[in-house]
Amino acid sequence: MRKKLIVGNWKMNGSLAANAALLESLRQGLAGDCKAGVAVAVPAAYLAQAQAELAGSVIAVAAQDVSQHEAGAYTGELSAAMLQDFGVRYTLVGHSERRQYHGETDAVVALKALAALAKGITPIVCVGETLAEREAGQTEQVVKRQLAAVIQQVGHCVSELVVAYEPVWAIGTGKTASPEQAQAVHAVLRAQLAAASEQAGQMVLLYGGSMNAGNAAQLLAQADIDGGLVGGASLKAADFLSIIAAAQ
Ligand code: 13P
Repeated sequence: MRKKLIVGNWKMNGSLAANAALLESLRQGLAGDCKAGVAVAVPAAYLAQAQAELAGSVIAVAAQDVSQHEAGAYTGELSAAMLQDFGVRYTLVGHSERRQYHGETDAVVALKALAALAKGITPIVCVGETLAEREAGQTEQVVKRQLAAVIQQVGHCVSELVVAYEPVWAIGTGKTASPEQAQAVHAVLRAQLAAASEQAGQMVLLYGGSMNAGNAAQLLAQADIDGGLVGGASLKAADFLSIIAAAQ
């Protein structure tokens, strides 16, 4: 049995005061027995706050992005070593918003995954098709191309990845992929991973895109859906806690 993992992606939201309240509510809500893994991907400016406020809790700190470079003249970027300094356990790489607004290519995303792994940080590799690509029947081809670039780059470390399927048309739109649609893509991704790693059966595959307290249980009941990457609903403690409860 794979352990479920629920990751909140706060995106560019929060403030010192709001984060303190949210993290405290999450800590309290998860003070009992928590069978699922939980992490929050906070804006980089708040990594130190998250590290301090989540010390000793079951909630891991995650970053939303990492540089593919080790160090040097890369203004505005954060290296994996810097994330490591703040106790970061996971980092997203290749979120569709990074691909769309920052021009991140499959090759750059693959290098970011490699940079994270080199510092012992688990990359959560995000893949997903746009609505136009889905309508053109290209879903499989797109997600396989995105994942293949990372598999090729990380070599024997494939099994250390977490993969998140996030259909772009489902992100922040309130339109969730149906459990069957999501499972179908997850099965494709698992098969692709199986061709690269004997450990594919133990790897964690997340679904993201308008996951909420109402639809989480059904999505998480699918054979190859091992958790969620949650945007909007991770900003409200009660909603995020309900999703975590659905994963147990
Ligand atoms: P929403 O849950 O707000 O649709 O965002 C999903 C997402 O992009 C998580 O990374």
